[in-house]
Amino acid sequence: MSTQGANKPRLLDLFCGAGGAGVGYARAGWDVTGVDVIDQPDYPFTFWRGDALALDYEKLLSFDAIHASPPCQAYCTITSSARKRGIVYPDLYLKTKAMLVASGLPYIIENVPGSPSRNAIKLCGTMFGLGVFRHRLFESNVRLQLPATACTCYKNRIGDGFVTVAGSKSTKADGAQGMGIDWHITKAQLVEAIPPAYTEFLGCQLMSGAANAPAANQDERPSLKETTRIYRDPRSLLMQTSLW
Ligand SMILES: C[S@@+](CC[C@H](N)C(=O)[O-])C[C@H]1O[C@@H](n2cnc3c(N)ncnc32)[C@H](O)[C@@H]1O
Repeated sequence: MSTQGANKPRLLDLFCGAGGAGVGYARAGWDVTGVDVIDQPDYPFTFWRGDALALDYEKLLSFDAIHASPPCQAYCTITSSARKRGIVYPDLYLKTKAMLVASGLPYIIENVPGSPSRNAIKLCGTMFGLGVFRHRLFESNVRLQLPATACTCYKNRIGDGFVTVAGSKSTKADGAQGMGIDWHITKAQLVEAIPPAYTEFLGCQLMSGAANAPAANQDERPSLKETTRIYRDPRSLLMQTSLW
């Protein structure tokens, strides 16, 4: 594990937005660097602007672990009527997973129910005492445990101390408070974010997973050429590794 950044292990936060996931990892003790295709002036850590799927392979391998939150609009219920009308959203989940598998690093991919996640754990705001439900799936090559507190959102309703973050039913301030987000963020960024409590919880597990992972054997990783082929046809790698 690398020991740069005040002796902290380094986490690459792909599709970082304004840092909902990144802040949780930082709280868990990671030195976080984010990547997003658009400028993120509210992102609180080192930020690189660029296409997460076109990152230099060597740069990727300079990190100890990777988190990825590819866009969810291709899978989430809120966009289902738009999709039925023929609007097409970027479908990056499998491509992202192929890149992370090829890196050989410990990883977590976050997305919504309805995405092509496999063997994921589902987190809910009620597991963390938050004022949102916000179910999200987390798939990893490190074994992830659920929190001790089970999801109880089926017993609660929006309005009974809980808010929805998307749409006009709650203000940005209410949404941010419900999510546990206390830094400057726009409404659009908030709608895309996850509560930092989720990744603070998972970040500790990822850290022990990363510490216990056998030293990655460079020779066993796909070459850059092979990785480029995999990016174009991510399912080929997933089939080979029985991860699909
Ligand atoms: C679901 S949001 C991420 C939210 C973030 N994890 C958080 O908790 O605040 C997805 C982000 O992916 C970014 N994005 C979309 N396509 C991208 C690409 N090809 N490379 C990098 N970022 C991309 C979007 O700009 C958006 O900020």
